[in-house]
Amino acid sequence: MAQASPTTPYPADMECDVTTELGTNIHVRPIKPEDASRLVTFHMSLTPRSVYRRFFSAHPRLSDAEVTRFTCLDYFDRLALIAEVGERMVAVARYDHLPGTTEAEVAFVVAEDLQHHGIASTLLELLAHAARGAGITTFVASALAENREMLGVFTGSRFDVSRSLEFGVVDIRFLIDPDTPVS
Ligand SMILES: CC(C)(COP(=O)(O)OP(=O)(O)OC[C@H]1O[C@@H](n2cnc3c(N)ncnc32)[C@H](O)[C@@H]1OP(=O)(O)O)[C@@H](O)C(=O)NCCC(=O)NCCS
Repeated sequence: MAQASPTTPYPADMECDVTTELGTNIHVRPIKPEDASRLVTFHMSLTPRSVYRRFFSAHPRLSDAEVTRFTCLDYFDRLALIAEVGERMVAVARYDHLPGTTEAEVAFVVAEDLQHHGIASTLLELLAHAARGAGITTFVASALAENREMLGVFTGSRFDVSRSLEFGVVDIRFLIDPDTPVS
């Protein structure tokens, strides 16, 4: 596995303009520390339902520690990609490498008015591509059992997803094999 570096420079080569399979144009790039206030604004624009689905609790405001943790990354063991439409941040997708494994936990959130535009599905592919470059083989995630949209993003992807349900939470796991055929 490649070596992680806490001083990895900003990976500008991950920036790209993408059209989702459903036709929405987004600019995707890794988050930066300078995005802190935009992340706070984005979070506060979400409905309580979306926030609950993302954090499994009412969480109307991000703490300063969370903002720092979510924006100051090494772009290797910890990466967040944001999607922008114009100047507006409309989505965040992140992975966190689980220490001592080749697995990473992933999480997604998309602005309500742009949900069902294929943004999370697009970000999943880009996140998996970046993660493979960091030696990660497997993504894991937890979603509320009623979160049909999040489960749909995973099961609708080209990856072979396994699921287990416990106490209303679905644990998801899949190899991010680059050779998995697009269905
Ligand atoms: C879950 C969430 C991130 C999904 O984001 P999204 O950008 O709307 O997801 P997508 O548009 O890629 O996919 C959503 C739906 O579109 C479908 N879809 C995606 N790409 C498609 C395509 N090319 N053709 C047809 N349908 C497609 C997905 O299967 C899914 O369908 P479903 O809702 O009928 O099951 C979003 O709903 C959200 O932010 N929820 C709140 C936060 C949250 O729940 N986070 C999860 C914690 S990890």
